Amino acid sequence: MKKLRLGVNIDHVATIRNARGGVHPDPLRAARIAEAAGADGITAHLREDRRHISDGDITRLARELTIPLNFEMAATEEMLAIALDHKPHASCLVPEKREERTTEGGLDVAGGHNMLKHYVDSLKNADIRVSLFIEADPFQLEAAKKIGADIVEIHTGAYCDSEDPAKRQSEFDRIQKAAAMAEDLGLECHAGHGLTFGTVGPVAAIPTIVELNIGHFLIGEAIFTGLETAIGKMRRLMDEARQAVA
Ligand code: PXP
Repeated sequence: MKKLRLGVNIDHVATIRNARGGVHPDPLRAARIAEAAGADGITAHLREDRRHISDGDITRLARELTIPLNFEMAATEEMLAIALDHKPHASCLVPEKREERTTEGGLDVAGGHNMLKHYVDSLKNADIRVSLFIEADPFQLEAAKKIGADIVEIHTGAYCDSEDPAKRQSEFDRIQKAAAMAEDLGLECHAGHGLTFGTVGPVAAIPTIVELNIGHFLIGEAIFTGLETAIGKMRRLMDEARQAVA
């Protein structure tokens, strides 16, 4: 059974900092606490509008982190230049709409492969691993393979947000099938978006998923219990779910 890695997304530490300007709370400090609490990597999304993570945050994270940085980015020339400048361990290409509150859906790799391939090739040529954030959809998986992605990250938002148990189960089944298909295609499979203590277990138990990226819930929970405790509990729930299927 593959080890399940935890990537902690620290975007919303920057959201809180930016609410007042200044330097507190510092996303790099949060990243260091995350590492001590059991995170295997740090994810940060530099959005076009810089609403949370800033260019300076990416510079400091890339320079000072001792665990891998997963740089989330839109497929634009501006972000490509920043990625090539900092050479993070991995870049995750995500769709980005200016007016959205969060990354609402997956990339349309099947529809936009001609445009995306340039970004995948440029990042890979710089030895940056390339991940595509997609819905749990066989067409998107096939397209991701075709344009040379190393990794697919399956969007778990619809599963996490479903209040109806039947709908949640059917969304979960789609994720499980997509994760199996990723392995058959030779793609590394990650998952994330909207995961909480209550929803992480079943996803962590899918044996072909090797990394979960979790942010908003952990930063929110940290208000009540501290970041180290919140991440430590998430890590434990992931490990327990994984061991139960080993
Ligand atoms: N993975 C990707 C590709 C994302 O865009 C996000 C949100 O920025 C996450 C994971 C983490 O989602 P959440 O903050 O809801 O845990």
